[in-house]
Amino acid sequence: MKKMVKNLIAAALAFGMANSAFSAEKLKLGFLVKQPEEPWFQTEWAFADKAGQEMNFEVIKIAVPDGEKTLNAIDSLAANGAKGFVICTPDPKLGPAIMAKAKSLDLKVVTVDDQFVNAKGKPMDTVPLVMMAATKIGERQGEELYKEMTKRGWDASQSGVLAITADELDTARRRVDGSISALKAAGFPEGQIYRVPTKSNDIPGALDAANSMLVQHPEVKHWLVVGMNDNTVLGGVRATEGQGFQAENVIGIGINGVDAVNELSKSKATGFYGSLLPSPDVHGYKSIQMLHDWVVNGAEPAMFTEVTDVVLITRDNFKVELQKKGL
Ligand code: GLA
Repeated sequence: MKKMVKNLIAAALAFGMANSAFSAEKLKLGFLVKQPEEPWFQTEWAFADKAGQEMNFEVIKIAVPDGEKTLNAIDSLAANGAKGFVICTPDPKLGPAIMAKAKSLDLKVVTVDDQFVNAKGKPMDTVPLVMMAATKIGERQGEELYKEMTKRGWDASQSGVLAITADELDTARRRVDGSISALKAAGFPEGQIYRVPTKSNDIPGALDAANSMLVQHPEVKHWLVVGMNDNTVLGGVRATEGQGFQAENVIGIGINGVDAVNELSKSKATGFYGSLLPSPDVHGYKSIQMLHDWVVNGAEPAMFTEVTDVVLITRDNFKVELQKKGL
């Protein structure tokens, strides 16, 4: 009996020591993004790092372009002793698989930008989400397009809207729908709004989609280009150039802002007029801060955090506006 008590005390001491050695180690949290080539996600990473420096945790940044890489990344996070991760999933339908794996490894999950959907295609609203106000930002895109078109004095009867869609991604669908509804509300003729789905959310995908639509409407003299982000709109604008449209006959306004810097820096104006800059800095910082507070203090994050502020950047003001946000 005595021996058993002694053993127990020894075990408890050893456990306590291991435990305190462990807790002295820096906390690790993951930040997984679907498209690290987009400055949007690089900005989120940079501001997650900033949060890590301020709150003393390490951010493990992993690119997850597909489902297999996502599940492997979660395993490797767990193997490295991470306690949770923020994720912008490469596919919302992976939501249930990601949650099952995270649960089995005891990792906490906060989603950013793109919401998970369940097997029935319904949003998984019990997983914390930080995202932009998609409909409102889309509406702003439509309003700004109409404003610029009016300024240029285009004849609406000779104009068309090229709307490049990605409806399977809810945030994209809401942005494009918002943009189209604002254009209609402003008075743009509904019958001249042409939707075409892109196969991939990058410039080449959008360019292909746009080309296939442009050739069907040789009667259109001026194009407004709508899309869910900068790369989509850039693909659309590149297609108009390929079909011989001059910059003055095309107005594209993207969303993300940070992905439009190269284009807006060009010595000559293109059909890409500007971009709506939301807050990738806030998305990156806030999502991982919420995860940190959850892991460290047990503070469960809000299920939905909407980031609303947005500013239109053009060739005239982009440097100043980016600087204001420290980007
Ligand atoms: C989606 C898009 C990104 C970016 C984010 C912002 O993930 O693919 O380019 O616009 O939304 O929330």
